[in-house]
Amino acid sequence: MVALIVAFAKNRVIGNKGHIPWKIKGEQKRFKELTTGNVVVMGRRSFEEIGRPLPNRITIVVSNTKDFTGENCYTAGSLQEAIKLAGNRDVFISGGARLYEEALPIVEKMYITEIDKIIDGDTYFPQFADGDFIKEVNERIEGEIPYKYVTYTRKNKTLS
Ligand SMILES: NC(=O)c1ccc[n+]([C@@H]2O[C@H](COP(=O)([O-])OP(=O)(O)OC[C@H]3O[C@@H](n4cnc5c(N)ncnc54)[C@H](OP(=O)(O)O)[C@@H]3O)[C@@H](O)[C@H]2O)c1
Repeated sequence: MVALIVAFAKNRVIGNKGHIPWKIKGEQKRFKELTTGNVVVMGRRSFEEIGRPLPNRITIVVSNTKDFTGENCYTAGSLQEAIKLAGNRDVFISGGARLYEEALPIVEKMYITEIDKIIDGDTYFPQFADGDFIKEVNERIEGEIPYKYVTYTRKNKTLS
């Protein structure tokens, strides 16, 4: 299964100046639950923001300029190469913008956290044809900045 996982604001912002421009306690809970034991694929800038491989899962960084290796950490030159490297494990594509754009036509599922606020930023989640997916709202979490866990499942099986 190839999925993508993202949190975006009401204006689809995902990042600002190399960082996630919000801090909401508990918001990353679903990311941890879904990706633990599986493979996360992320762009070089997103990896550098975290600064280390995530524990208890395999991290594949997509980069053509740097080589990240370590325990459970690999580098691939493209998204396709990363997916191949993951073998038959579940893959969660975790940003940033270019990887999401490339992943959109091939993902079976999108795990989206919709942050219920307009937030300033410089990096956006790409537009997608939501008619290609069935949308399910899993949970709404109230708070200073409310957010929803949403799952999109592709209507037709992907070609990948
Ligand atoms: N809200 C969220 O869920 C979320 C998730 C992830 C990231 N973010 C935010 O998004 C921002 C980072 O995203 P970004 O789009 O600027 O950068 P990014 O995708 O994380 O990293 C860009 C770099 O990754 C490599 N890369 C990406 N896609 C590639 C591809 N298809 N083929 C080959 N190489 C590829 C290239 O590395 P080289 O230059 O080394 O070749 C490229 O320069 C940060 O602000 C971060 O906080 C938010």
